[in-house]
Amino acid sequence: MLNLGILISGRGSNLKAIIKLSKEIPNEIKVVAVVSNNPDSLGVKISKNKKIPTEIFNHREFSTREKFEKEIDNFFQRKKVNLICNAGFMRILTESFVNKWFNKIINIHPSLLPSSPGLNTHSRAIKDGVKFTGCTVHFVRSKIDTGPIINQAVVPIETSDTEESLNKKVLKAEHLIYPMAIKMIARKKISINKEKIIYEKSFSPKKVLFNPEN
Ligand code: GRF
Repeated sequence: MLNLGILISGRGSNLKAIIKLSKEIPNEIKVVAVVSNNPDSLGVKISKNKKIPTEIFNHREFSTREKFEKEIDNFFQRKKVNLICNAGFMRILTESFVNKWFNKIINIHPSLLPSSPGLNTHSRAIKDGVKFTGCTVHFVRSKIDTGPIINQAVVPIETSDTEESLNKKVLKAEHLIYPMAIKMIARKKISINKEKIIYEKSFSPKKVLFNPEN
């Protein structure tokens, strides 16, 4: 059984997608704990509504990052979390936290990593004029937005796209690939070798995508 601890800071739409997955395969995964560093996070309402044990640890109230993370760590240990899912968590985790939970923390990022780590990925994609963007689920390492890539989804960028429209399209893809990645982990379909994901079985699309197509 995969006991998930979810870290959030905001809207919580990925949290919602993960909760939905937990209802679909209740014998395989359970959301046992949710932590937000932001007291105003909408995601907190979602998890409390679903009666999931939820804590707000406001990072501003801690004198050090270590003390803040200690609270998260204690709560997750108490709830027997064995996989942490960062879902829009806007704090950088220390190396010691990441190492303590090595290969037990995953993250979703709104770009095709290693392209465009960091913030404002959609406006950068538009500014750079790239024709495809997307999202990535990966294991977390201490360097931001790095770590073995579990899965990705590609989203073509249309000339009419704005930061807002792109955000919507990518978010839709996020809500599909995050549950897919968690399911693969729960079913032990993947392992890590030399920082790359090995799949027990995988079906890769064989078609090349063109943008524009003509
Ligand atoms: C998502 O775009 C995710 O990729 C990024 O932060 C955003 C969180 O959105 N890391 P939500 O809170 O899950 O709606």
